[in-house]
Parts: sequence; structure tokens; C-alpha cells
Amino acid sequence: MHNNASSLQGEWLPVCNSEDVPEGEARGFLVADERIVVWRDSLDAAHAWRDACPHRGAQLSLGSVSRDWITCPYHGWRYDIEGQCLHIPSNPALRPPKRACATTFVSEEKYGVVWMCFGEPAYALDFYPEADVPGGRRINLAPQTVRSSAPRVVENFLDMAHFSFVHGGILGEQAHTEVPDYEVVPVDGGLEARQCRYWQPAGMPGQGGGAMIDYVYRVRRPLIASLTKMAVGGQGALHIMLVASPVSETETRAWLVSIHEDDATHSDQALYDFNMEILMQDTPIVESQWPKCLPLALDAELHQKCDRMSVAYRRWLAELAFGWGTTGGV
Ligand code: FES
Ligand code: FE
Repeated sequence: MHNNASSLQGEWLPVCNSEDVPEGEARGFLVADERIVVWRDSLDAAHAWRDACPHRGAQLSLGSVSRDWITCPYHGWRYDIEGQCLHIPSNPALRPPKRACATTFVSEEKYGVVWMCFGEPAYALDFYPEADVPGGRRINLAPQTVRSSAPRVVENFLDMAHFSFVHGGILGEQAHTEVPDYEVVPVDGGLEARQCRYWQPAGMPGQGGGAMIDYVYRVRRPLIASLTKMAVGGQGALHIMLVASPVSETETRAWLVSIHEDDATHSDQALYDFNMEILMQDTPIVESQWPKCLPLALDAELHQKCDRMSVAYRRWLAELAFGWGTTGGV
């Protein structure tokens, strides 16, 4: 494993949306330079393992799932849900030894996402309580590849000053480019940006005519950020979690999990399209940022009052010695 991957050891990392792995199927993903297979057993539980058979390293994700077994496509070794090999077809009388065992990882499903942890999780998978608000409808975007580091993707999510330039006509416009000052406070071991405000011509699904939108941003873990747009003009609050799955240090799969409160007028597809348009507008800009890893030394790039949250994020990552996708801080 890459050196900087040690900073991911205790982190819950998103692998895919729950719907990406149907029952009885296996799918392969890259997470932090590791091949990961996710497969679903007969009780619908998702398992995340190293996607390599201990026999000769073939990809288990190319194999087949039957009830509570996954079978390697190369020589047919069959594994149970603990990763233990139960059957070796070329030597059927043999009881497979204990060490004929796949490498398994802790995994859990929440918010419609399959999460895994390479080590022992350092915290509970409960960093998006807004998902449980009554009357909230959850929309999970499909993961999109962003050829940049996960910290660059997270920082973009926390940035308001780009709205009028990257999301013109939706989240901002040329007549209203100012970012009023806001405060950043430490909360629950993470950061919160409060009293954020920005003029948005169509900042909520279906909203027209423009409004000053009040925001709160939160970074609860190094790669997990969320925001709340307060209710405005008859529209319910909108919560968005950014899900950043690190593929490599300079490639990320990113998607948004949004919770739309009290919205009975828009179809799921309309809400999906609204969030996807914004994510797709951000992607080429984030991919253009150089270096791809986020520089934590504060003199590496220039900062302005509106960058208060980005600066706090960089400082916090440096304090945590968070090396994945960053430079200059550790
Ligand atoms: Fe998997 Fe041989 S490589 S059974
Ligand atoms: Fe954006």
C-alpha cells in the first residue's frame, strides 16, 4: 500500500452506491490503489474484499456469486462470507487450509452507499444525520470520475467564490459576485462554516427569480463534507453530502447524496439532473487545478477573505498529518 494511504486507515471510504451491486452479483472497484470486490450475499449484505484470489491473484469480481459463496473464475475455489475457502475443485477431498482465506475489510451500507475501511474505523458511520430528517427525499448521483485528488474535490465543494463563474445562471451571476464574510468554527473534531450567504438566481430546484441563500458547510472527516441550504421562498431545506472515493492520489470518483426536504413538486429525475449539472460543471475546473494534490503549506497558493473555509481545511489536514492527496503539510 502507498505510504500516504496510511492516513486512510481509520476512515470510512465510499466504494459505490448500494444499487451498483445487485443481489447475487460481484463488482470490482479501485479504492486507494487497491482492487476491491464488492459482492452481495443471500441476506443482501455487501462484502468488500481485496479483489484478488489468494491462490493466483485472479479477480474475484470476475467470478460468480451463488447464495453465500463467491467462486473464483480461474480455478473455481469457493469462498464463504468470512473469506474462508471451502472448496478446491482440483482437490475435492482436501479440506482447504485456514490460510486459504481472502482479505476482507470492514464494510457497511448507509445513505445508499457501500462504505469500507482498510483498518479499524476510527468513528461511527453517522456523519450525515441530515439524511434522517422527516420529509426528506434522498437522491444519490452516479459516481463521476474526477482526475484530481480527493482533497481538491472536497475543497471545491466548500468554495463559494466560484459560483458565479462555474455555475452561472444557477448558483451565481455576474451582478452578484461578492462573498459576504462568514465564520469558521471547530465542531465535533471537524469544521463548520456558518453564516454563509450568496445570491443565487436559481439555487434550488425549480426556483427562479433569485434569492439570497443561507448556507452551512461542514467537514466532518478529511474526505467527507456536507452542506445545508436553508429553506427559502417556500422551498424546503436542501442538504448535500459530497462523497469522494479515492481511486488514486490524483483520481477520485465523486458523487452527491442530496436530501430534499418537503419537495413534492419535483420528480426524482428532476432533482437528480439539477445536482448532476452542477457536479459536471465543477469537474473540468477541478481537473485543471495544478498541482493535483492539495498544497497544505499556506504560502503555496494565495488566499482571500472568502477562502476562510479552504484555509481552515488545509490547516486542519496539516494538523491531522493527512497525507493522502496533499503535499507540503506532512
Ligand atoms: Fe483463484 Fe486459482 S486464482 S482459484
Ligand atoms: Fe461548484
